[in-house]
Amino acid sequence: MPKRLLKMRLNGEAVEVDIEPGAMLADVLRNELGLTGTKVACGEGECGACTVILDGKVINSCITPAMKAMNKEVLTIEGVAPGPGKLHPLQEAFIEHGAVQCGYCTPGMILSAKALLDENPSPTEHEVRVGLSGNLCRCTGYVKIVEAVLAAAEKMHK
Ligand code: FES
Ligand code: FES
Repeated sequence: MPKRLLKMRLNGEAVEVDIEPGAMLADVLRNELGLTGTKVACGEGECGACTVILDGKVINSCITPAMKAMNKEVLTIEGVAPGPGKLHPLQEAFIEHGAVQCGYCTPGMILSAKALLDENPSPTEHEVRVGLSGNLCRCTGYVKIVEAVLAAAEKMHK
């Protein structure tokens, strides 16, 4: 089947890539564009490891056809930091609070947390838990992740 040209803005840059027509966004990001920070675990839309932000909304990129990103804005974990050698406050807080163990869920957690804080800069603990409910972590028990998101929210207000 002939390939199709996908045009999107990816982490603030215009990108054009030839893809298989039915390719999922996670596979295009990882295999065609080399952005392996987006993880694929279940591949079925259940775990959130593949979370990216598409036009401001979190999506599971493993079950989202890449063509849905046509002419849209995609943010992956590679685009979250404010600049070279710098980390986003969420990334700093995850490190400071020991919220990263194996790290497989971390990119998706950070993107879900970012989308949450973009909409609700002062969430309650309950709101953080609801905001991250689509992201599974098999390592941390979630407590440190929730603490990190709350700490980042506070820091971002200062
Ligand atoms: S890998 Fe996409 S939801 Fe699990
Ligand atoms: S840190 Fe291992 S899955 Fe979350």
